Amino acid sequence: MIRTAILGYGRNGSTMHAGAIEKLPGFTMAAVCDIDAEARQKAADRFGCPVYADYREMLARGDLDLVVIVTRSSQHAPMAVDALNAGKNVMVTKPWALNEPQALEMIAAAQRNKRLLLPWLPARTACDLIRLKELVSSGAIGRVFQIRRSEYSFGLRSDWQTLREFGGGYLLNWGPHLVDQPLQLAGSPVRSVSAHMKQLNNPGDAEDMFYAVMTTADGTIVIAEWSMAEGGLPGWLIQGDRGTIRVTGEKIEIWRVSLPAVIGEKEYRQKPVVEYSVEELDAVNEYGESTLFGDTAVMYRAAAAALAGEKPFLVPTAGALELTRVLDAIREAAQSGAAVAVS
Ligand SMILES: NC(=O)c1ccc[n+]([C@@H]2O[C@H](COP(=O)([O-])OP(=O)(O)OC[C@H]3O[C@@H](n4cnc5c(N)ncnc54)[C@H](O)[C@@H]3O)[C@@H](O)[C@H]2O)c1
Repeated sequence: MIRTAILGYGRNGSTMHAGAIEKLPGFTMAAVCDIDAEARQKAADRFGCPVYADYREMLARGDLDLVVIVTRSSQHAPMAVDALNAGKNVMVTKPWALNEPQALEMIAAAQRNKRLLLPWLPARTACDLIRLKELVSSGAIGRVFQIRRSEYSFGLRSDWQTLREFGGGYLLNWGPHLVDQPLQLAGSPVRSVSAHMKQLNNPGDAEDMFYAVMTTADGTIVIAEWSMAEGGLPGWLIQGDRGTIRVTGEKIEIWRVSLPAVIGEKEYRQKPVVEYSVEELDAVNEYGESTLFGDTAVMYRAAAAALAGEKPFLVPTAGALELTRVLDAIREAAQSGAAVAVS
């Protein structure tokens, strides 16, 4: 049994994470910490475990195998460093850090204390990304030259996610899904970034829209955006030199284009042969949860395997650090109005 503690029993901690710990054999809830008395009471009623208002008191316990950090974004890295220094293995929700220096601090603390640091990037286990990787690597649409990942909504909010001092803003909130996923599909590191960020409707001082154009080492153009629109673009648009893939919700449409090897006068006048197919994703896991933005059960099973020393966690810290560098570059590019190189 992995004796697990949740630090931050709010909207996400009490649902996605507490739900996984509750359902998955191999995990048991050993402690919950939240500064909010009502949240503590709910956790105590649900799990019958000790609850804490002060996370340092919880970290002083010697019997915790894993601490899951689900507090506000600005608290993740400092709390993770404290937990690692207290000798705990740590899983940190996204965004695991506000910037590269914070990420490096966590990695150094994990190495120093010989403990595992598990970055929570569930979107890497999303059912659409998994299927798209299969399609692209099978050559279904030829050589991919552009990947566009978009989410649009007029969904408004007025909580801490609109304030920079708490690590709010849509880049840190949605970037770990929308920037990371197309880069995972591209499979080549980012070399340069141009970007825009705007604050359109939400209160506070953080952006509620971002648009980033990234170029990878192999020349693929990757566009990631969270924006406001009704009837916007599909979630994914993937363009290859022999076809196109469009993903809308759980529907994947594929256009495979046959072109002649040599394009002379005769071929130039012919219409290319286009084969169209459509498939529906099975976007629900064994616990009835949507897996469009990641599979919680897969993430927790991967954490269990990593804690048992069976295999490395499916999100390596080096990969999470690379994403943080890209998010930093997007912010810098948006603020400066100039392209930013990523090494
Ligand atoms: N799909 C995902 O992976 C996903 C989805 C939603 C949210 N998140 C992430 O989860 C984090 C939390 O988001 P949320 O919507 O649950 O926020 P929230 O405000 O509902 O929850 C944060 C909780 O932390 C508690 N807290 C604050 N300071 C604390 C302290 N010092 N000690 C103990 N507890 C403290 C708050 O009382 C609150 O209950 C965010 O960083 C967000 O990015 C991830």
